[in-house]
Amino acid sequence: MNPTWVMGFPNGYETGTYLALDMGGTNLRVCEIILLEEKGEFDIIQSKYRMPDELKTGESEELWEYIADCIQQFIEYHHEVEDLQHLDKIPLGFTFSFPATQTYIDKGVLQRWTKGFDIKGVEGKDVAPMFEADIARRKLPIRLSALINDTTGTLIASAYTDDTMRIGCIFGTGCNAAYMENCGSVPKIASYNLPPDMPIAINCEYGAFDNEHYVLPRTPYDIIIDEDSPRPGQQAFEKMIAGLYLGELFRLVLVDLHDNKSCEFFSGQDISRLRKAYTLDSSFLSMIEEDPFENLSETGDLFRRELHIRAKQPELELCRRLAELIGTRAARLSACGVAAICIKKDIKSCHVGADGSVFNKYPHFKARGAVALREILDWEKDQKDPISILAAEDGSGVGAALIAALTIKRVKEGNLAGIRNVEGMI
Ligand code: GLC
Repeated sequence: MNPTWVMGFPNGYETGTYLALDMGGTNLRVCEIILLEEKGEFDIIQSKYRMPDELKTGESEELWEYIADCIQQFIEYHHEVEDLQHLDKIPLGFTFSFPATQTYIDKGVLQRWTKGFDIKGVEGKDVAPMFEADIARRKLPIRLSALINDTTGTLIASAYTDDTMRIGCIFGTGCNAAYMENCGSVPKIASYNLPPDMPIAINCEYGAFDNEHYVLPRTPYDIIIDEDSPRPGQQAFEKMIAGLYLGELFRLVLVDLHDNKSCEFFSGQDISRLRKAYTLDSSFLSMIEEDPFENLSETGDLFRRELHIRAKQPELELCRRLAELIGTRAARLSACGVAAICIKKDIKSCHVGADGSVFNKYPHFKARGAVALREILDWEKDQKDPISILAAEDGSGVGAALIAALTIKRVKEGNLAGIRNVEGMI
């Protein structure tokens, strides 16, 4: 649970030009966002850059250089080079979607890498100066105004256009949520003596829920995923839910069934492709769950095409059921995280903004999550869902820009909680 120094919701009338850098998991994205005069309106231009896999487990210097390269390319492409020298420094919101301890809004000490990242020399250090050093070397006209988590960005971006938004979630490569708390209820910031009812967004980092394994029953496959990951013992909840792991869970079950000779599963087939760890991603399960045909012919084609396996009808049926089980468990556990926040904050009705590949693309995820939320929160049978999880606005782009705007605004108004360098902010 990390306090974020995002001190309240936008009112929809924030304005100005901002840059946003989104380092999520799969891609790197650079955006320029103009918040317009009209309530909740904005313009955005953006470029996506692939985040090469080698970078995720490589050296820290390579990561920061690659990021600075992408930003430089973006700025040079969208601005005249002569202008660059004269440009005022553009405030940038950096969405760094990993657990970070923030003593200031523009600082963040990485607690640990998650989502399969394992870059040396970053854990336990403040990522802001590492990022800023390469930006300064290239003389890019940028100042880092806020370091944010994708969930906080999602919360704020969604609240910009919908004032009933109370929670921002990501159900993607990783899973996590953020919500607005009162400073008085956050022991971690008690020493700051802030007004108890002043709002502050909290990044829950609930992907790390139950790392001690007191609560959730784990299957042998969950245990293998954890043990073979770069950080065993971490992100226990996330490893059962998030997109990064769903395909791998499925693969591990199939390999186990095959190796257990008494099952005669895929017997006589060469399963060497299937043996490769992380060879299936969650889109493989999505395709199985989406197969419209009774005889699962599309699933059969998929196995032939991707894995060179000729599956028999009962094997296909088992695969479909297995995908349903994995997808349903993920959706239902995801709903538990949202319900926990609603119960803690005594929220009886609200909108929850959600983003991420699993939420947006995995079939039935939304409906299964909604059913689970209804069961957990015990709504009346004929009652319309008082809490609904909806597709969010772009948190890591627009959300990051808004947080930069809100931070600058509150510094000007004299609220300096979590602000290190007042001059540099405005
Ligand atoms: C992981 C990260 C968290 C992020 C989530 C979604 O759980 O630790 O910071 O919000 O993935 O991207």
